[in-house]
Amino acid sequence: MADMAKHSITVEGFGTYEVESGTKLVRALEQNGVDVSHRCGGQARCTTCRVEFQSEEPPMGEAERQSLDEDGVLGQFRLSCQIRVDRDMEVKVLMRASDQGWEPGAEVEE
Ligand code: FES
Repeated sequence: MADMAKHSITVEGFGTYEVESGTKLVRALEQNGVDVSHRCGGQARCTTCRVEFQSEEPPMGEAERQSLDEDGVLGQFRLSCQIRVDRDMEVKVLMRASDQGWEPGAEVEE
């Protein structure tokens, strides 16, 4: 079954993890101990869940595009709360909660 598929995500400075296909990237990161920020809880508003892709970028949905465009940062980074793991990915987390001195943020629903 396709929904049992796994993909690997490689996170710069952390490691490589097996993730169930379809998992939100922000949750996949957190589940593997990466303290990615997600201040708005995955609503495409705070842009703190930002990641940079070192592998080919997945397609962008409308909510993500709009949010990045409004902030004038389209093309600079991606929002990990708006991306589902549908392929192997290599990313760098740009706003770790521990670096920012804040709590990661509201829980992101699957
Ligand atoms: S934009 Fe806020 S958690 Fe992704």
